[in-house]
Amino acid sequence: MIEATGITKTFSTAKGDVRAVDNTDLTINPGEFIIILGRSGSGKSTLLAMLAGLITPTAGVVRIRGQEIDHLSEDKTAEVRAKEIGFVFQFSGLIPTLTAVENVMVPTLFCPDGPGSRSRADELLQKVGLSHRNDAYPGTLSSGEMKRVAIARSLINGPAILIADEPTGDLDVDTEIEIMNLFRDLNREGTTIVMVTHNPDLIPYASRVFGMVRGKLVADPELSCVNTRADKPASDRI
Ligand SMILES: Nc1ncnc2c1ncn2[C@@H]1O[C@H](COP(=O)(O)OP(=O)(O)OP(=O)(O)O)[C@@H](O)[C@H]1O
Ligand SMILES: [Mg+2]
Repeated sequence: MIEATGITKTFSTAKGDVRAVDNTDLTINPGEFIIILGRSGSGKSTLLAMLAGLITPTAGVVRIRGQEIDHLSEDKTAEVRAKEIGFVFQFSGLIPTLTAVENVMVPTLFCPDGPGSRSRADELLQKVGLSHRNDAYPGTLSSGEMKRVAIARSLINGPAILIADEPTGDLDVDTEIEIMNLFRDLNREGTTIVMVTHNPDLIPYASRVFGMVRGKLVADPELSCVNTRADKPASDRI
């Protein structure tokens, strides 16, 4: 579904080059629920942004459904992304002059033939527990509420793949469970999910788990084996 081969991202800074992602491979198969954990600065957001075609790798190739995204025009990349991928940014990235429901509707502009509609936007805001704030502007929402609007926005076009960067980072435990249960239901209905989290307690939701260490994905068998969860405290597992 998404195939990344040998992808590297190097940022040039005044103090020299930073290799955020280092020669990494990842094949995401339909129906998977992948969770990536890793320390701050290990390259998780950079990896997700490359998988979604939001930034171009310095080296290596990303294919979405067999299409090499580097070779597509910007318009075509935007179209593929809008149709195929829902993206939840680590920092919600809402448009401040639009209401919550208007923000949720924004991706429909890039996907006019998709399932997005005002009633679907209302329904999604209800699913993330925010139906009472439909008409609120982002400046009047808490950061957890903004995150939930961003989650609803990522789902408006009915994406085949949901890529979510710490989608529950600002949420209390109960709301986190509600969002994770929503993701689990979407996954059971066929949505492929790739998410980054700092919370090892979410590992049981995954079908595959990776660690990210200094720009490289590591498939730690200990992490991947969700059945060991009950035996060990979270702090022992990462
Ligand atoms: N635009 C940029 N210019 C320069 N360096 C960058 C840029 N974006 C990211 N980096 C650097 O690349 C590395 C990886 O950053 P990234 O945001 O991918 O980490 P992360 O694993 O998502 O961290 P966190 O858990 O804190 O969100 C960091 O050292 C970061 O400072
Ligand atoms: Mg990040």
